[in-house]
Amino acid sequence: MTSTVITGISSLTTNDPAHDRGRSGILEDAWIVVDDVSGLVIDVGTGPAPEADERRDVGGRAVIPGFVDSHTHLVFGGDRSAEFAARMAGAPYAAGGIATTVAATTAATTDDLTCRTRELWQRARRGGTTTVEIKSGYALDAAGEERLLQIAGDVTEERTYLGAHVVPVSYAGRTDDYVHLVCGEMLRRCAPYARWIDAFCEVGAFDAEQCRAVLEAGAAAGLGGRLHANQLGPGPGVQLAVEMGCASADHCTYLTDDDIAALASGTTVATFLPATDFSTRQPYPDARRAIDAGVTVALASNCNPGSSFTTSMSFVIALAVRDLRMTIDEAIWAATAGGAAALRRTDVGRLAPGSRADVVVLDAPAPIHLVYRPGEPLIDTVVVAGSS
Ligand code: NIG
Repeated sequence: MTSTVITGISSLTTNDPAHDRGRSGILEDAWIVVDDVSGLVIDVGTGPAPEADERRDVGGRAVIPGFVDSHTHLVFGGDRSAEFAARMAGAPYAAGGIATTVAATTAATTDDLTCRTRELWQRARRGGTTTVEIKSGYALDAAGEERLLQIAGDVTEERTYLGAHVVPVSYAGRTDDYVHLVCGEMLRRCAPYARWIDAFCEVGAFDAEQCRAVLEAGAAAGLGGRLHANQLGPGPGVQLAVEMGCASADHCTYLTDDDIAALASGTTVATFLPATDFSTRQPYPDARRAIDAGVTVALASNCNPGSSFTTSMSFVIALAVRDLRMTIDEAIWAATAGGAAALRRTDVGRLAPGSRADVVVLDAPAPIHLVYRPGEPLIDTVVVAGSS
């Protein structure tokens, strides 16, 4: 075994409740020892650091676990900057814009899509993201959805089949027929390349019964459920996600008291995507009310060309603290351990003995600098499974 000890850590967020400051487990004047062969954390602590084969002093910088970005649509062609500009001039966001990206993605070659996806992933990695989920949903036919999931496999095992993103133009007025395809042939082709199934439960996309059918078909094929819920208005999505035991209900921009009560009593994580609300000029979700009611919360980028074209989890955290009124400890937890919970993972999102050594060194003495100095490149070093 060879090992590395990282020393000189001003503030180490472990997300291990065995340590101080509740579930964030923050240690000051800390060190962390990594097994270079397995890529796992061996130990963390404070005060004099133990011996190891290699020693690296980070000079009073803060260290946090790598971000777990549990909601992205990274595989796509084209861009929709004109749609964004129109929104800034007053146009509303509508689900229909997805069709523009479906056309551009369908026209793109597999090589082009693979290159772009890798570029976006490299960008996300440089920004501190060490685990990412990627959805399909920009093809809307069986072969195309399968292709997008195969491309996503170049970057992550956390792949989500989102055939039920919107109804394609070729099925206009025949939503039930399209749901039949999503639950039948398309699912058969996509399930081998996916861990999760998702649907967009919204007016203009799919209603609760159609989403239920998609989630049930996915479960029968061995896929875990997640749901785009309550993004553009109040609706049945959140409560359906909880009822169906989904790992996550995503967006949650419009939450009623009953939605919050359901989330608090179930096992479904509420994943907030505030860069979307920023980019679409929607209201921000009431994260404070959800957290205070005991809901488990994640933060994710929702990187996609229509509603949120950013991979930056630092930006998401800044919005969460400033506009969703989360504390910095809550926001860092939600962007790391919360994302892991939304993917039902226990090996990432924390820095504790046995967890994967996904380590982000900030060019700052404390995580609050991510909010205090928004837009500054404060991600100093990113280590994934012990390697940088
Ligand atoms: O999560 N809401 C549905 N899907 C994406 C938007 C995709 C798009 O506009 O292209 C979302 O915001």
